Amino acid sequence: MSNNILIFGGNGFLGSHLAEFCLKNGFKVTVIDDLSTMDRINIQNGVKFIRAKVETYNDEEEYTHVVHLAARPSPEDYIDHPLDTLSSNSWGTQNAMEIARRSGATFMYTSSSEVYGNASVIPTPETYYGYVNPNGIRSCYDEGKRFSEALIMSYHRYYKMDTRIQRPFNVYGPRIREDGQYGRVIPRFVKAALNDEDIIIFGDGKQTRSFLYIDDWVSATWKFLTMRGLSGTVLNIGATKEISINDLAARILELTRSKSKIVYKPSRVDDPTRRSADISLARKLIGFEPAIDLDKGLSKTISWFKGGK
Ligand SMILES: NC(=O)c1ccc[n+]([C@@H]2O[C@H](COP(=O)([O-])OP(=O)(O)OC[C@H]3O[C@@H](n4cnc5c(N)ncnc54)[C@H](O)[C@@H]3O)[C@@H](O)[C@H]2O)c1
Repeated sequence: MSNNILIFGGNGFLGSHLAEFCLKNGFKVTVIDDLSTMDRINIQNGVKFIRAKVETYNDEEEYTHVVHLAARPSPEDYIDHPLDTLSSNSWGTQNAMEIARRSGATFMYTSSSEVYGNASVIPTPETYYGYVNPNGIRSCYDEGKRFSEALIMSYHRYYKMDTRIQRPFNVYGPRIREDGQYGRVIPRFVKAALNDEDIIIFGDGKQTRSFLYIDDWVSATWKFLTMRGLSGTVLNIGATKEISINDLAARILELTRSKSKIVYKPSRVDDPTRRSADISLARKLIGFEPAIDLDKGLSKTISWFKGGK
């Protein structure tokens, strides 16, 4: 059978870049997306698009690959929509897995570095079990991801399905959601800087993150999805270089030559203080090495926000 991929959440930031890459590499691509986090259409000609929910979608097609990215990954968004957030990453994951099982497809899931919570081991390896509040306001997202991981590994063990779970760490680049408070940190800062508006930092800005440019994420994901012998693997996909939110704001102010001021607000509940990926396993299994440094990735992202390419 020729390659036929079904991508849930494929109109979103990560999904639309992956769909494009799969199309270029000769896959037949179907995207299912309910347009809940972004109503702009990102997908290209040549991709079949159906507006539907991951929880309920079904069809008669035979797929070689099923990828589940459907979620509300921005903290403000998932805190405002906790039930939707849990639903797409519980019933939704099960429905997507059943489609993959019926087709005998390879199944890939985007979990998250959020499964580690406020990790005490930095950089964090896949073997770290996490330090997560199971019922706080972020738990709808973190525990949805953790439940999905448990469900997928149970399908893998019980039905011997080919499953692959990745845990992305803060990916950024063109098409990342940018609207209002729902934008994540890089798009919020870039938008504010380009408009000379205040840059809002929650907490003291000493919290760190490690940011991976979208092209690096796509090439790692492609390898992880298509390489043989990786069934049952759970893999961090992220950058290793930590940067504080204060330093990130300073870089963006400099690159945009902005007159914005930095304004501090109280820190968000259960916001992790440090985050950085241990990518030793990804290096070993798929030869992953991030190639685009932060300044280069930020410059490309800034020019996209300015309306360029
Ligand atoms: N971007 C990152 O840094 C990052 C980091 C860790 C994990 N992730 C995970 O990767 C995936 C994609 O993230 P993204 O950054 O592209 O976010 P995104 O918001 O741009 O894309 C998510 C897509 O899923 C769709 N969607 C949401 N709920 C749905 C539902 N019930 N049924 C059908 N479609 C639905 C949205 O409309 C959107 O197009 C998510 O699962 C997210 O949790 C992303």
